[in-house]
Amino acid sequence: RGAAAAERDLAGRHVVVSAGGTREPLDPVRFLGNRSSGKQGYALARTAVARGARVTLIAAHTHLPDPAGADVVPVGTAVQLREAVLKAAAGADAVVMAAAVADFRPGRYAEGKIKKKDGEEPAPVTLVRNPDVLAEISAERARPGQIVVGFAAETDDVLANGRAKLARKGCDLLVVNEVGEGRTFGSEENEAVILGADGTETPVPYGPKEALADTVWDLVARRLV
Ligand code: CTP
Ligand code: CA
Repeated sequence: RGAAAAERDLAGRHVVVSAGGTREPLDPVRFLGNRSSGKQGYALARTAVARGARVTLIAAHTHLPDPAGADVVPVGTAVQLREAVLKAAAGADAVVMAAAVADFRPGRYAEGKIKKKDGEEPAPVTLVRNPDVLAEISAERARPGQIVVGFAAETDDVLANGRAKLARKGCDLLVVNEVGEGRTFGSEENEAVILGADGTETPVPYGPKEALADTVWDLVARRLV
């Protein structure tokens, strides 16, 4: 950890971090989900606590120990995550959306377990769009000067896709990972490029998720007024 961290440069600040992956129920026993482990979000929460911040961690289906000193708010679905993030973000200095939020949810929730019937084809699952939490909090900053950070996993032209996504979301920073080598989900390490709305590009070499987290907080701290 760098000198900045030792200075507790986030003292007196309130930061909100979302982590994990939302689950969208089909019936009482089944859901649509994703492979996010929550480790990057938890690393962000731990490092922010270490740097002196008050931390609210919105956790979606993580199976990780609560970071000491953080307020942990468990959520299930994207809609619940949105509620929790908007509430926590009200007075926050920064919001970091590390959670994998489901883009779609089943259009209908079956109150009883969906059963198969002999000789019948399964009913198709219709999906509806979930709210885009990152775009919403970026567009309607809960307080002036609030810094909003998103994450994106991309393939192909990673930087071009990242730049386009940063512009579309309207956030201040976008942490872009290249996926496909199978080393992001559940792993202890990460590699990324952090794109700034001001045109900056900060490469973060392959290393512990804590190191990436500290670089995110370095960039956030520099932007806080
Ligand atoms: N995100 C969000 N709400 C959603 C979907 C995504 O807040 N409904 C946030 C994620 O937490 C992440 C960022 O947006 O910080 C980028 O997520 P990503 O899935 O890469 O973006 P999408 O706009 O959903 O683009 P894609 O079609 O590539 O999935
Ligand atoms: Ca998505």
